[in-house]
This record gives sequence, structure tokens and C-alpha cells, in this order.
Amino acid sequence: MIKKAVIPAAGYGTRSLPITKVIPKEMFPICGKPAIHYVVEEAVASGIEEILIIISRTKNLIMDYFDHSLELEAFLERVNKTHLLKKTEVPNVSIQYVRQSHAKGLGDAISLAKSFTGEDPFAVLLPDDIFLGTPALSELIEVYNKSRANVIAVKEVAEQHLKDYGVIKGKQTSEGIYEISDLVEKPASNPPSNLAVTGRYIFTKNIYEKLNKLNPGKGGEIQLTDAIKDILTEERCLARISSGERFDIGKEEEYIKLIQAIYRT
Ligand code: UTP
Repeated sequence: MIKKAVIPAAGYGTRSLPITKVIPKEMFPICGKPAIHYVVEEAVASGIEEILIIISRTKNLIMDYFDHSLELEAFLERVNKTHLLKKTEVPNVSIQYVRQSHAKGLGDAISLAKSFTGEDPFAVLLPDDIFLGTPALSELIEVYNKSRANVIAVKEVAEQHLKDYGVIKGKQTSEGIYEISDLVEKPASNPPSNLAVTGRYIFTKNIYEKLNKLNPGKGGEIQLTDAIKDILTEERCLARISSGERFDIGKEEEYIKLIQAIYRT
């Protein structure tokens, strides 16, 4: 059973500068709620009971947001605005935090979750990827429960954009599910498929051993993709095409489209 999830939120958000000098990308407002609120909601809707958020020096806003605001609640009661109490609520789930001292890459951030997840398989949700529709993580958990394999969420992406993603090579085993045989990070040409890796994963504890062995890869960062490639040599890794619509809020046009899509519903 997948009950624990890791949300890495310690990156610099360089694509979204200058605002990320002071506001973490994970706290970008989406119709009144920060992006990470949607991701925590998705985790809870998928059956997750404990969450570890990886933060860094400039991300204290995230901890403040998920704390109870007792003073504010008392104030709303005192001034007879109890109808607003609902708006102060956050998802009812246990959240812990750990700090990544330097943004040494997504792989490094995930490796900090080792003592939190222990022996258990666990989920990873990237908070800058927001899915609308069926919770993408719940679809991965469904695949994990049947296969006990590592599982990665993928989306079909137009050929000209594949160079911006990790792209899987794989064989379809059933509707929307692929057995991954290789992974190519940001292929400049000849992508192995049109299936791009998105920000939802399930890993067995063995991913840590692979992460710990890695040297810095592209951009001097510890790359999660490299650890996935290593684990592929020993364990099964499946891909599941997510049925929901996916938005990368690090891309301004997708951030705007996401807000429009939520307003439409
Ligand atoms: P991204 O690469 O999308 O985010 O990482 P980034 O590095 O913050 O942004 P850009 O690319 O410079 O604009 C995906 C997620 O992993 C976290 C980020 O906070 C983001 O939510 N991350 C990334 C870490 O926690 N630590 C890292 O060292 C790198």
C-alpha cells in the first residue's frame, strides 16, 4: 500500500525569475490557493496519509501555509466572519519537512526522504506539475497495486516539444500502460517515443541506493532520471499515461491556461 509521499520543493525556480526571488514557485496562486495545495489535495485523494515536503532556506512560506492559523481563526470568530473559516482550512494529512541545504538537483532532494519512507514504497509528486481531472497519483497507485513495480506518469507530447522532457522507450502491455526499457533525458533528435515523463512517480526503496551512487549529471545536479535508468537494469519500471490534463506552472503560458481551465469548471 502506498501511504507516504514526498514533495520536493527546494529548487530555485530559475525559469520563473524574478518573482521566485521572493515567492516560491510552489506558492504561486491558482484561483486563491497555492500550487502546492492542489498537489497535497491530489495526494490525499489518492490515499496518502503522510507527506514529507523538501524545503530550503527561502521556502518557509510553505510551512506557514500548512500550519493552523489559530490567531486568524480566533479573529474571524470574534468579528462574526465564521463563514470564512472554511477558507483557512488545509488538507487533513500529516506533513513533515526536511531542508535541502543546496539545490543539488531533484535526485538529491528525493534522497533526503530515505528515513521518512524507510522500507516502504512511496510516491513522489512534483509541486510544479498540476493535474486536473482524475488524480494522476491514484492511477499510478492502481498500477503499483497490481504489479509491485516502480511506476512513472507519462503524457503524450507533440514531437517538437519532446526535447524538453525525459522520454521513455517502452512496450505497451495494456491500455495506457508501458513496460519501460530505457529513458532518454531531453533528446535533441530521434526521441524513442512520444511519451514524456511528468511529475508523478512511485518508487521502491531501492531508488535510494541508486541515487546515492550517482555523480552530478546534467547541469551539475543529481538527476533523478539517472537513478531511474540504473534501477531499470534490476527492477521493472512501468509507465502509465495520465488521463488528466497536466500543466507545468514553470511555463508561464501553462500557468495561465491552468487558471483559465479552473475558472471554466
Ligand atoms: P524543477 O527543475 O522543475 O524546478 O524541479 P526548479 O529547479 O525549482 O525550477 P527551474 O527549472 O530552475 O525553473 C522540479 C521540482 O523539484 C524541486 C523543485 O522545487 C520543483 O518543485 N527541486 C529541484 C528540489 O527540491 N531540489 C532541487 O535541487 C531541484
